[in-house]
Amino acid sequence: MRVLGIETSCDETGVAIYDSQKGLLGHKLYSQVALHAEYGGVVPELASRDHVQRVIPLIEDLLLQSHVDKKEIDGIAYTAGPGLVGALMVGAAIAQSIGFAWKVPTVAVHHMEGHLLAPMLEQNPPDFPFIALLVSGGHTQLVKVGALGDYTILGESLDDAAGEAFDKTAKLLGLGYPGGAALAALAEQGQKGRFHFPRPMVDRPGLDFSFSGLKTHAVNTVNQILAKRQILDDQTRADIACAFQDAIIETLVIKCRRALRLTHGNRLVVAGGVGANLHLRTKLTDMAAKENASVFFPRHEFCTDNGAMIAYAGCQHLLRGEKGDWAIKVCPRWSFIKSSPPPL
Ligand code: KG4
Ligand code: ZN
Repeated sequence: MRVLGIETSCDETGVAIYDSQKGLLGHKLYSQVALHAEYGGVVPELASRDHVQRVIPLIEDLLLQSHVDKKEIDGIAYTAGPGLVGALMVGAAIAQSIGFAWKVPTVAVHHMEGHLLAPMLEQNPPDFPFIALLVSGGHTQLVKVGALGDYTILGESLDDAAGEAFDKTAKLLGLGYPGGAALAALAEQGQKGRFHFPRPMVDRPGLDFSFSGLKTHAVNTVNQILAKRQILDDQTRADIACAFQDAIIETLVIKCRRALRLTHGNRLVVAGGVGANLHLRTKLTDMAAKENASVFFPRHEFCTDNGAMIAYAGCQHLLRGEKGDWAIKVCPRWSFIKSSPPPL
């Protein structure tokens, strides 16, 4: 089965073709980062309009470059939520229209299910069951994955997501939006030990997270420096970035270890934009080795939003005979990971 995947939940237009026999045949991404940069965050209306302009040409390019004729597409998968309502509507409308015209079934995919299945696109995919750490701009969750569609949330952030905390702290340090990767790069120049940030909620039982305090701690650190009439020079900014990153990563590592131990699991999957962080990848790999567990990451470009993960997830659902009706509906606050269709 060959499935076209369409991802438009936020500020990236992603399309891909996944073949259940041959694997990923091609993928294309258009990032709107430059469009939103001057506003310091995603402007939803601009995001929707840009998706409208990009998605059809991207699909045409993808078919051409993958040497796939539209008649060879057996199904269409699209992100139905969670995300920005207008942006999601673009993907849903296009997917349903193309599916109807091409006479192939369509399926709604949960964006976070796409993320957690992204490592399945790699050479050595994990077997079920596994524990997934989902760390993106909108979510921080530990999920027990028994099988496709069998997802239990073990813990999640009670306030800011890890990526959101990275972005807010990056903004404070004068870095662009989204600032996670820029903060990680700045942290490389930082000296360890000059500042110390707390490890939130690690001394409490359970697997929930709270990251908003880290952002407040960063604000207070900057304010204390300025109150002493000291300059927030490049080295100081790097030292703060380093302390912040260490705190967030150590917290994530502690909770992942706890999740593996509590569930007697030996496979950990890491997905979502923050999963691109090299320091996090190293620390999780070290921890997993000590726990006799294996850790699985998607390739760098499939950590952040992309069409490949949606094509893969949609293909699995279509193979099980699941498909949607022709209604163009989305679920911006689709809070729990379930198989399609989204609860409305
Ligand atoms: O999964 P994603 O592309 O979009 C959402 O579904 O949210 O994740 C984007 C998030 C942003 O907050 C971004 O700053 C963060 O992932 N991010 C990183 C890195 N690369 C992207 N955070 C830390 N280190 C990175 N290298
Ligand atoms: Zn995402």
